[in-house]
Amino acid sequence: MQTTFAIIKPDAVAAKNTGKVIDRIEHEGFSIVGMKKIHMSQALAEQFYAVHSARPFFGELVSFMTSGPCVLLALRKENAIAAWRDLMGATDPAKAAPNTMRAVFGTNVGSNATHGSDAPETAQTELKLFFPELV
Ligand code: RTP
Ligand code: MG
Repeated sequence: MQTTFAIIKPDAVAAKNTGKVIDRIEHEGFSIVGMKKIHMSQALAEQFYAVHSARPFFGELVSFMTSGPCVLLALRKENAIAAWRDLMGATDPAKAAPNTMRAVFGTNVGSNATHGSDAPETAQTELKLFFPELV
């Protein structure tokens, strides 16, 4: 069993798709072991996406992530990291496989509905940041 970190991003929350995303997560066999709704501060969003701080889209990314509340999730399943990345689909909703979270709920590469940790080390770091009680 593995635990990954997921976010239902502000676009999906604002569009009232939180329940639909959670329904799909549970239907796909994940256990939700942590869940919080927060409105990220600029400092927290900058820390969370620090790996992208030199990228041209960083400012846009931080302003998007702080534009409204988001839902933070800790998801448990066998191979949860890869399984959630598969269920999310490609970063760009236009390139995401049919029926993935980003294909269904995303708008464009910036507003793409969900986040998922991309490796065991990042999952640990991200879970520690948002769900310290779980790690
Ligand atoms: P995430 O970290 O949110 O799960 O997304 P990801 O791994 O699929 O993609 P990543 O390369 O880590 O990018 C992080 C987020 O930055 C935004 N982005 N915008 N305008 C652009 O070209 C661009 N590229 C990336 C997206 O919101 C992406 O999810
Ligand atoms: Mg990423």
